[in-house]
Amino acid sequence: MQPVIANESDSAVKEEWGEAWINGTPTKLTGDYRTPVVAFLREKLGLKGTKIGCGSGECGACTIIVNGEAVCSCLFPLHRIEGAEVLTIEGLSKNGMLHPIQSILMQHGAFQCGYCAPGVIMSLFALFSSNPQPEDVTVREALQGNICRCSGYVKLLEAVDEMRRLAI
Ligand code: FES
Repeated sequence: MQPVIANESDSAVKEEWGEAWINGTPTKLTGDYRTPVVAFLREKLGLKGTKIGCGSGECGACTIIVNGEAVCSCLFPLHRIEGAEVLTIEGLSKNGMLHPIQSILMQHGAFQCGYCAPGVIMSLFALFSSNPQPEDVTVREALQGNICRCSGYVKLLEAVDEMRRLAI
């Protein structure tokens, strides 16, 4: 289900009512404060790397990082990122170089269709940012909200093993 941005004639719609740091860039928050963050990212900012799967907090395709925490941006209303630091998949690579999490996942062929990839990568980024040597149970807990429709979890977990070995 596609999150919907409220009609621009709605009384809750206002322009430039706040600001957030999105991928390190100060960004004006505009429109309906109830808009799901994923819709704002994709439709207002053109950041289409964050995917929409279920639209109801079940699949994790829309995972982004807000103040260091992985959240489902399809359920997260725009007003909750006011003043926050937000990281999306577009903000991970630096100077044209993939983040090590992305490189290792690619080397292991960890994705098939790839639709879940941005959400999985952002969940792993949140995990390894707080714990460079997570135990198996912690990895599984961190990824339990990310559904891979291709069921490609074996290679994904092999890649995570390498991330732990390399202490990324
Ligand atoms: Fe947000 Fe599925 S699209 S959890």
